[in-house]
Amino acid sequence: MPRARIFKAGVCAAFFTCVAPAFAADDIALGEYLSATCVTCHQKSGKVTGGVPSITGWPAEQFIAVMEAYRKKERENEVMRALASGLSTDDIAALAVYFRTLGPGKK
Ligand code: HEC
Repeated sequence: MPRARIFKAGVCAAFFTCVAPAFAADDIALGEYLSATCVTCHQKSGKVTGGVPSITGWPAEQFIAVMEAYRKKERENEVMRALASGLSTDDIAALAVYFRTLGPGKK
């Protein structure tokens, strides 16, 4: 286990600035995979189109908090509520770190 951790940290540091040590390269890969649905509405470029807000480059904690709010039905929007309720906590964290990498200057 410790050996795997060190390996992950090494990969992470080699490719980009990590959001936090707990977020490793495989989380970003999962996030990218899960994002296929999201980017049919939200633009990967961060552009705002047709009332769909930009979700790129957000601090991970903020992204997670918003997704949790949709999941708990504390935030209005049927589509986002339905999508968020189909995601696990890990899925949301992975999406948060992936969309964070799409922030300004990193496109
Ligand atoms: C069918 C189109 C659609 C899809 C697919 C979609 N969203 Fe959304 N999303 C929206 C709209 C529209 C809003 C704005 C809702 C509002 O104004 O209340 C939104 C809002 C959000 C917000 C809050 C943005 C803000 O500025 O408050 C986040 C975060 C978000 N979506 C993440 C995601 C993620 C992650 C996925 C994929 C799992 C996803 N969305 C898939 C349409 C979509």
